[in-house]
Amino acid sequence: MDESFSDAETHPSRTQALDVEMLRTALRDRRLGNPLMYFPAIGSTNSYAADLAREGAAEGTLVTTDDQQAGRGRIGRSWRSLPGQQLALSLVLRPTFPPHFLVMASALAVAETIERVTGLATGIKWPNDVQVDGRKVCGILIETSTDFAILGIGLNVNGSLADDAELATRATTLAEALGRSLSREALAVELLQRLDDLYTLLLTRGEEGRRGLRDAWRQRLVTLGRRVSLLQGEQRVTGIAEDVDADGVLLLRRDDGVLQPVTWGDVES
Ligand code: BTN
Repeated sequence: MDESFSDAETHPSRTQALDVEMLRTALRDRRLGNPLMYFPAIGSTNSYAADLAREGAAEGTLVTTDDQQAGRGRIGRSWRSLPGQQLALSLVLRPTFPPHFLVMASALAVAETIERVTGLATGIKWPNDVQVDGRKVCGILIETSTDFAILGIGLNVNGSLADDAELATRATTLAEALGRSLSREALAVELLQRLDDLYTLLLTRGEEGRRGLRDAWRQRLVTLGRRVSLLQGEQRVTGIAEDVDADGVLLLRRDDGVLQPVTWGDVES
């Protein structure tokens, strides 16, 4: 039976495989997204992309799947996937600029894409969680090595997380926020094109390009000015998230008055 996209929309429990050919066509002239490797199911797209990078895969190689079965998150966490409903994308990159600008560029590209495609307002929780209505819709995992970086993006597009009560308090899908399903392909194309533009800017526009990108990312940070609790492993520190520096380092005014630069960890408001 030929299931059209509108049929999948009318019957949200049904899912369709990602239209990979549409993505390939839309991205054929881009630096990012070529070649595109699709797997119906895989453990972690980041792990697979890292293996490819070690074997010399070209910059821009994209690994994606409909069913990521062992997705990995930041700080050693796992990443839950809804088969056939979300986007799981990993790119092989070989950046010539400091990798923390990738953190900013990727979060900014996701936030702008969601706003353009859905009209939903977004915010970025430092450093790169993208939120809608204060709940996470996208997680980003950047893993660096001496000669490559893997940029992994998990975007909750369709379906619902309501069956996991704890997760649903802090995460949602775009479809839940919007009240209807969306084309994953339209989102993926817009996202990869925007990312490609920002990546090119970082490669070609030097200091000025980085500053502009950092400012645009900073503008969207919902963390700034808030009282937060920073979790680093077993350690918890509370204070006010005062600002970020030129490299995106969070400046936390601790309750004891000390201004602590923070390069990693999880912040909760
Ligand atoms: C986080 O918020 O903790 C980051 C989650 C990153 C998930 C993505 S999904 C695609 C890529 N493959 C992985 O195993 N992880 C990233």
